[in-house]
Amino acid sequence: MNLKKIVGYEAVKWVKDGDVVGLGTGSTTHYFIEKLAEKIKNEELEVLGIPTSYQSLYLASDSGIPLTTLEEHDVNLAVDGADEVDPQLNLIKGGGAAHTLEKIVDQSADKFVVIVDDSKMVDELGKFPVPVEVIPLALRVVKKQLVNMGGQPDLRMAERKDGPVITDNGNFVIDVKFDNISEPKELEVMLNSIPGVVENGVFAGLANEVLVATIQGLNVLKRV
Ligand code: A5P
Repeated sequence: MNLKKIVGYEAVKWVKDGDVVGLGTGSTTHYFIEKLAEKIKNEELEVLGIPTSYQSLYLASDSGIPLTTLEEHDVNLAVDGADEVDPQLNLIKGGGAAHTLEKIVDQSADKFVVIVDDSKMVDELGKFPVPVEVIPLALRVVKKQLVNMGGQPDLRMAERKDGPVITDNGNFVIDVKFDNISEPKELEVMLNSIPGVVENGVFAGLANEVLVATIQGLNVLKRV
């Protein structure tokens, strides 16, 4: 059973004619974008997409979804995946190094819906390291600060390219392991206060709803 596909396809039902939709990044939103393109075509909808990465940009444009930008439109609905989701719907994102643009698009949306399979649900964030996008020149000093904050920083290395991962914005990503993340909002703010940090992958209090696929069926979790 492909739970990512089930939840990605399900989320398409939430898109209405006239919506401007934030298109998340990753393997789960891949299915959402694929199915959304089909729906737009079959139902002749006027829907615009705003991508959160080169991945979602090329997938959406190859699939025929008309695209726009945040300069031209506000986002009604953003649909995105996550690496971890806690019971308060705080998230860790950035496993695909796209969290900076994802956070800009997702937080700007009237409604931000997260789509995951149940392997992403955790009691407390932090098994997944927090991705931190950093300006290359600041790497050493940012790493020092992350250690002072109790983190274990690890520069993300590329596959099939020598050296570090370079984000869509031309920066590096440091994956930071913390022993526990009991106060996600506090950590999110602290990480972003380090000079040289562009954005981090803690999304505290942003998601309105999380759609979770399990082998028993789909659950909708709403932020209270
Ligand atoms: C991209 O940087 C991430 O935030 C993804 O949204 C997240 O890693 C979820 O990806 P999958 O859907 O591939 O698990």
